[in-house]
Amino acid sequence: MRQVTQASLFGRVDTLSERLYQLHHDLLDHIPHIARIACALYDPDTDLLKTFINCTTEGKAINAYEYRLAASPTLSELARNRTCRVIDQISSEIAPGSAHSDWLLEQGYQSSFTMPMFSGEQLLGFIFVDSKLTSCFNAKAQRDLALFCNLIVMAIDSEFRAIKSLLATAQAAREFAHLRDFETGSHLKRMARLSRLIARAVAERHQLSDEVIEHIYLFAPLHDIGKIGIPDRILLKQGSLSDDERVIMEQHVEKGVQILHKVLGDYELEHLSDSKLMLNIVAYHHEFMDGSGYPNGLLGDEIPVEARIITAADIFDALTSARPYKAPWSPSDALEELERMARAGKLDPECVDAIRSNFDEACRIITELSD
Ligand SMILES: [Fe+2]
Ligand SMILES: [Fe+2]
Repeated sequence: MRQVTQASLFGRVDTLSERLYQLHHDLLDHIPHIARIACALYDPDTDLLKTFINCTTEGKAINAYEYRLAASPTLSELARNRTCRVIDQISSEIAPGSAHSDWLLEQGYQSSFTMPMFSGEQLLGFIFVDSKLTSCFNAKAQRDLALFCNLIVMAIDSEFRAIKSLLATAQAAREFAHLRDFETGSHLKRMARLSRLIARAVAERHQLSDEVIEHIYLFAPLHDIGKIGIPDRILLKQGSLSDDERVIMEQHVEKGVQILHKVLGDYELEHLSDSKLMLNIVAYHHEFMDGSGYPNGLLGDEIPVEARIITAADIFDALTSARPYKAPWSPSDALEELERMARAGKLDPECVDAIRSNFDEACRIITELSD
């Protein structure tokens, strides 16, 4: 195997998508006719397999797609037995019927190699390799592939471990600072899922890859991390804040950015492909499209789309949650308020539309994860 593979897989600036692209290229020297390599991530909380990264040179890529692992007896079995599966002739072995198999047949792929990915005992997801040739994956190809696939698993696993330790640090800091007294774990989970819902809906227009969407999902709960630097007398105050207190409260944005820089530095994560995304979420989640937000009074497109997504999700969640001073609003009243704010030029109308067009799912998130 060429040295470049190792270097590109563990390079310090590339996204996982870029690394997969490089790997696919290298792999063609060993096994020609590979038309697609794709990784789907597994979420044990929801039993969902979600498309994550892919490199597709022949055929149309499948993006923003998810399905329950339990709905696929074959994949469930591969995960249970930790084995790979080779199909030599897809057209005679796979029956049409599900969106995924219909798509697979349409692309004209003839043979495939599937491998579950693990981090220790934990299922990370699956790698799918496809070719337009029948019987492309002979014994030698399978050995080569197993090696290449393990490099992919290591790259994904090390990035996710890094992110997990960062999130765990943030969680510990939160608990230490009594932040949990007003910011519940369910709020953070709802923020992750609402933000993902909006990100998926605006993905095509903003060209957000599945990898970026996944990072928005992971980083959304960090948006208010700076509140751990706000004194309890202000953070936990019942009733409205004085002007001076509000000025201090608003500093949670700058404090959040400082904390992230510190933590990213401590974990040597500044190179993490989407650390910029994380910083943007924290730095700009109180900006409004009309320039009336804080701390920078940014206008419209000056606000990164990931921050606009978080702002819409955060306000929707705040309105539909109970607070000491207010009862929860119904989801439809909350959505109407968001639409009013979009008309007034404050919120990104597309992010608000995303909630409107996925309203049932948004309501499900609110009820399933209520405080
Ligand atoms: Fe905030
Ligand atoms: Fe929040």
